Amino acid sequence: MNILLIGSGGREHTLAWKLNKSPKLNKLFISPGNAGTATIGTNIFINWKDIDIFKKFLLSEKIEMLVIGSEDPLVEGLHDQIVADKETQHIAVIGPKKQAAQLEGSKDFSKKFMLKYGIPTANYKSFTKDTIDQGIKFLEDIKSPYVLKVDGLAAGKGVVILDNLDAAITEFKAMLQDEKFGDAGKTVLVEEFLSGIECSVFVLTDGISYKLLPEAKDYKRIGEGDTGLNTGGMGSISPVGFVDDAFMKKVESRIIEPTLNGLKNEKIDYTGFIFFGLIKVNGNPFVIEYNARLGDPETESVIPRLETDLLDLFIATSEKRLSEKTVQFSNKTAASVMLVSGGYPESYEKNKVIGGLDLIDDCLVFHAGTTQNKQGEVLTKGGRVLAITAFGNTKDEALSKAYKESKKIKFDGKYLRTDLGFDI
Ligand code: AMP
Ligand code: GLY
Repeated sequence: MNILLIGSGGREHTLAWKLNKSPKLNKLFISPGNAGTATIGTNIFINWKDIDIFKKFLLSEKIEMLVIGSEDPLVEGLHDQIVADKETQHIAVIGPKKQAAQLEGSKDFSKKFMLKYGIPTANYKSFTKDTIDQGIKFLEDIKSPYVLKVDGLAAGKGVVILDNLDAAITEFKAMLQDEKFGDAGKTVLVEEFLSGIECSVFVLTDGISYKLLPEAKDYKRIGEGDTGLNTGGMGSISPVGFVDDAFMKKVESRIIEPTLNGLKNEKIDYTGFIFFGLIKVNGNPFVIEYNARLGDPETESVIPRLETDLLDLFIATSEKRLSEKTVQFSNKTAASVMLVSGGYPESYEKNKVIGGLDLIDDCLVFHAGTTQNKQGEVLTKGGRVLAITAFGNTKDEALSKAYKESKKIKFDGKYLRTDLGFDI
């Protein structure tokens, strides 16, 4: 099978690495990809919004499956674009259509959906420019901390949590009155704060049945002990100690099954991954958010644990016969440590030469933000640069291996968190 994978991060390198193990794979293209994916398949710089050029590529390379890694093309309707054209509608697409991707693309949509189907989540109200006064009144009536969320996609920056009421009102006004987040912030949600510990749960679904993937925990803050600014993710661990069988049963019966039944009831077809961002409060799961894709950096610890052929699962998903498949995972723990550019998540320098890649053993190296120059050197290109994933019989064993190997990688300004797993 010929595949085009859309994306350029650690998640996409991991997916490319896994797909490449399948005997069913013929050619793999990654758009735009990175220096890591270039060692597995062919990177191609092509913008799917250039509809004619994109279509020409799909047809000339006889692409049979499109795998969409990141949220923007899903929410903007890349899947819909493929099925709308008679000449491309035979191509299998892994990733939901625009309407289903609303689960991630609109927090207002996803909250209404959860409310309708009795899926546990924080209480909330949503407001627009016309209802700012009611919003302020609502903030005055609820308890601190105040959770403000813009409705649309905001590259991870659309959630603000504040302890102080005045600061919350100021931020709320900036979001709505001053349109701080543009169109994404035309509707703002004010949510009850939930106190607990978070984890990420993933399923692959064909809209009829689903396969549960291993859970993971990601570490979002830049600083040790979960302090400082939010990042795209500083590392991940799978499995997660506090996610036991009893909790997972609740997740399936209270969250996953009602979500899939709700989608069916709304006649919303879904093909691809659903990411449940959960919080465990007094032993019970609540949904913080849905995403219409795999998590990054969770993928870098979850997918290496998958022992089943991923492409075979994707084919079954696209043919709506996922229920025929069984999925197997390694019992080992996978830990993935992210190496980032100094300064990230604020401004940072790029194009630093990365050394030591050839010295790594007993670990997987997934590129998150890298490129290659004409001399063949690998350079930093993003805030998140490389994810080093190791296996162990315990989380400590996996982490210590990943940390030991991380030391071999050298680039100017390299930074990593050394306390992953401190809370599980
Ligand atoms: P989201 O983009 O919705 O996942 O929110 C980003 C982060 O904000 C989450 O990972 C949580 O750490 C935090 N968060 C969001 N909503 C809540 C809530 N209702 N209560 C507590 N923390 C929250
Ligand atoms: N790791 C969180 C996300 O991918 O959104």
